[in-house]
Amino acid sequence: MENLIRENLSINIKVIDLLNEQIKMEARASSMYLAMASWCDQHGYDYSAKLFYDQSEEEREHMLKIFKFINDNGGIAYSPEVPKVSHEYESILDLYKTALQEEISVSESIQNIFLTSRKENDVASELFLQWFINEQLEEEQKMRHAIKVYELHGTDTENLYALDKRMTRS
Ligand SMILES: [Fe+2]
Ligand SMILES: [Fe+2]
Repeated sequence: MENLIRENLSINIKVIDLLNEQIKMEARASSMYLAMASWCDQHGYDYSAKLFYDQSEEEREHMLKIFKFINDNGGIAYSPEVPKVSHEYESILDLYKTALQEEISVSESIQNIFLTSRKENDVASELFLQWFINEQLEEEQKMRHAIKVYELHGTDTENLYALDKRMTRS
């Protein structure tokens, strides 16, 4: 049955497999950001906590967007298993650096699927992925902004909490 459905695909099968992998990545990011929101809550970084709760929601939206795209175009989207995520961070700066690293990995993965779509002449997927490429630029910028703020000004404890208020910019 699965093969029969896959024979009538309007998007490339290699691309579908990569998109299913991307679903897992988005789910992992959503879960990781929830853990980060929790850490920020525990440590009194209220604004950063809000940023990560929102970010966690956004990652779930990304996941669902890909999920629907696969199913709407004759593929089968798989509900992802989410691996364990860390709840331990040395500092707020360490946390934002980890978040940026995650966003960079996601950007690379999206670019890889985009280039595969292009190679396979899968124009529909290529167009679909353009939105994600722009979205990744924004998300990397958000994390880079936070890192810059904390690296430049976050030397004493009082300052760390004052700087947290600047995390509302997104
Ligand atoms: Fe995402
Ligand atoms: Fe993201």
